[in-house]
Amino acid sequence: MKIAIDGPAGAGKTTVAREIARRLNIKYLDTGAMYRAVTLKALKTAVDMNNEAALKRLTATCNLEVRCDGSENIIYLDGEDVTGEIRSIPVNKNVSIVARSPGVRKALVPLQRKIAEEYGGIVMEGRDIGSNVLVNADYKIFLSASVEARACRRWNEMKDNGLYVPLEDVIDEICMRDRIDQGREEAPLTVAAGAEVIDTTAYALEEVIQMVLEFIRNKETKRGSEERICCDEGR
Ligand code: CDP
Repeated sequence: MKIAIDGPAGAGKTTVAREIARRLNIKYLDTGAMYRAVTLKALKTAVDMNNEAALKRLTATCNLEVRCDGSENIIYLDGEDVTGEIRSIPVNKNVSIVARSPGVRKALVPLQRKIAEEYGGIVMEGRDIGSNVLVNADYKIFLSASVEARACRRWNEMKDNGLYVPLEDVIDEICMRDRIDQGREEAPLTVAAGAEVIDTTAYALEEVIQMVLEFIRNKETKRGSEERICCDEGR
């Protein structure tokens, strides 16, 4: 079973995707973490984020490893655990610039597909999962929410992690990332064909999880009855 969850920053993808993976007892992959790890390396090595050739070279030299441990992802960059470091403010600010690079995407997408192939079941979250990475996913979900709701959620998360940033800065960063993610040429953020769109603005986390589970159950039931009809017709 392959489940693709896409959407912009702060729409609730990570929490929902992890919880769905935990309840269905399948793996979970946060593809954004991989773009974040490359961004961290670009920052550490002072690579020009607008230099396509330099970014491509940098990605080729990244030893990136993702350990899918239950519903957790542990990210190793050149042998070092960077799971916490990739959530820093400088990475937040630069990740969409790095992620728009065709060279970076061409290196990371095959890794993501390989991870999906390794496991029987996976929930993969990102920006282009349903539209590009796993076009044949069994279930595609697109989570959205108003900019204000997404920024407030992100601000609260950061506060819980001891990061105090003005709410206006979080709104600006989210708007900038939305703009770059939606406007890039290579696999932009978009609603994949056949995806179930859920606006999470007015809903609590558990309600969104229930909506996603219901979508999966309904689609499964529909698929089952279609298969039965085909079998009956074949008799
Ligand atoms: O968690 P949050 O929504 O803040 O972002 P993320 O999932 O960690 O992704 C960080 C950034 O990586 C996004 O803003 C995109 O620019 C990029 N990304 C992407 O281009 N394609 C993906 N499949 C996942 C992330």
